[in-house]
Amino acid sequence: MKLTRTKSVEQSIKETDEPEHKLKKSLSAWDLTVFGVGVIIGTGIFVLTGKQAALNAGPAVVISFILAAIACGLAAMCYAEFASTVPVAGSAYTFSYATLGELVAWIIGWDLVLELGLGAAVVARGWSAYLQNLFDLPTWLAGDDAIPDFGAIFIVAVLAVVAVVGTKLSGRVTGVLVVIKIAVVLLVIVVGAFYIKTANYHPFIPPSKPKSEEVSGLTQPLIQALFGLEPTSFGIFGVVAAASVVFFAYIGFDIVATAAEETRNPKRDMPRGIIGSLVICTVLYVLVSLVITGMVKYDQLDSAAPLAEAFKLNGVTWASKLISLGAVCGITTVILVLMLGQSRVLFAMSRDGLLPRKLAKVHPTFGTPYVITIITAACIAALAAFVDLEKLSEMVSIGTLFAFVVVSAGVIILRRTRPDLERSFKTPGVPWLPVLAILACVWLMLNLPVETWLRFIVWMVIGFVIYFVYGASHSRVGMRAASGEGEATAESAAADRRKSVGDND
Ligand code: ALA
Repeated sequence: MKLTRTKSVEQSIKETDEPEHKLKKSLSAWDLTVFGVGVIIGTGIFVLTGKQAALNAGPAVVISFILAAIACGLAAMCYAEFASTVPVAGSAYTFSYATLGELVAWIIGWDLVLELGLGAAVVARGWSAYLQNLFDLPTWLAGDDAIPDFGAIFIVAVLAVVAVVGTKLSGRVTGVLVVIKIAVVLLVIVVGAFYIKTANYHPFIPPSKPKSEEVSGLTQPLIQALFGLEPTSFGIFGVVAAASVVFFAYIGFDIVATAAEETRNPKRDMPRGIIGSLVICTVLYVLVSLVITGMVKYDQLDSAAPLAEAFKLNGVTWASKLISLGAVCGITTVILVLMLGQSRVLFAMSRDGLLPRKLAKVHPTFGTPYVITIITAACIAALAAFVDLEKLSEMVSIGTLFAFVVVSAGVIILRRTRPDLERSFKTPGVPWLPVLAILACVWLMLNLPVETWLRFIVWMVIGFVIYFVYGASHSRVGMRAASGEGEATAESAAADRRKSVGDND
């Protein structure tokens, strides 16, 4: 009973109006799209494109990007429906609370903390490496070999201040950096196009061959362990395996949904922000991967900075420094939006009493959840400073895919349990489209290594313990039910909502 208690959509919306937990509504569809692009384009396009072309897919890495985009596009439709129906901070966490019950909501919230926090730490480490590369800094100060990594600590601290001072300011900072990042990506596409040699596209899908290095035990993809398949590179399977790795490049459109409560007109603008940013990034990724695999033979792209490398190999050295600069700017916005997303999810969980409610305090002047932002920034900085996170980045992907599966299932469930709700964006083809989204995401998850699955399970077990020790007995929904107050009825909550819309106008 306890585990499946749900929090009505009306109740979720009503609570966003409590004075000490009220976030400022300042974002437009444009801000959301910029936010989306700001967090989507990062390590994925700057590093993974070249690596996956060299190791798994050849020039057909373009197809891997399209496959990953299809899975994300299906999930994005489901996110758009939810975010336009339940415009409350917390994204997948809030959606699950309204549909699948408190325990699933907790699990998904805990899972998002993993996606966003670990993601920010991984990316901060990458930022530091690019910075070291751009300015030839001493390696004890920043970059891969620096422990503690002062570069990573520095960028997390600066961005924590930006996040506390205001969502609108974060939006502005992101806006400027996103312009630089897109300019650099366009430079790669436009200048690079002049250096394409069609011979480099042959063979487009290199024939499959056994993996050069030993891949077994914990490092093999789960699907391979389950079915006893022989590990191969290239061929059709290589292209699909690359899709589950380059999936990382699309992570971020889902984070747009975490800003729902700070959006002026979420019902109209949420779907625009989510789907718009995904479409822009898909087009850019497909073009970048086409260009760089056309500029050099795919087997020359196994580098930490493959985009810069492709230009260097063609003698265009001026462009390679510019690309590093673009990477530093680009990755900055990824860290910022990941941090903002994480604090919003934890904010929603604390407001519901599943974590201590004190954490959900909003700053009186800035209107941002500053307590949670500062705590999460300290944890992210500590992780990024000391832990080698390269391998753990796959955990970010598994966590995200898991959230996509739950959100897609949630759309089907909410259509049945609450057909009356106003949905300004409707996912087409329910239940088939969400079912397809679930299958596509599960398929990508199965292509991740066994050790990633194990770490993911350990993280989830820790979450269960915290829920049963603290959250289950402190939940506001639970307390309200126990005191007999019950959930707000749909009617009275709808009246409250109409009033609050009137107040905002
Ligand atoms: N999509 C983000 C990146 O590629 C996480 O860095």
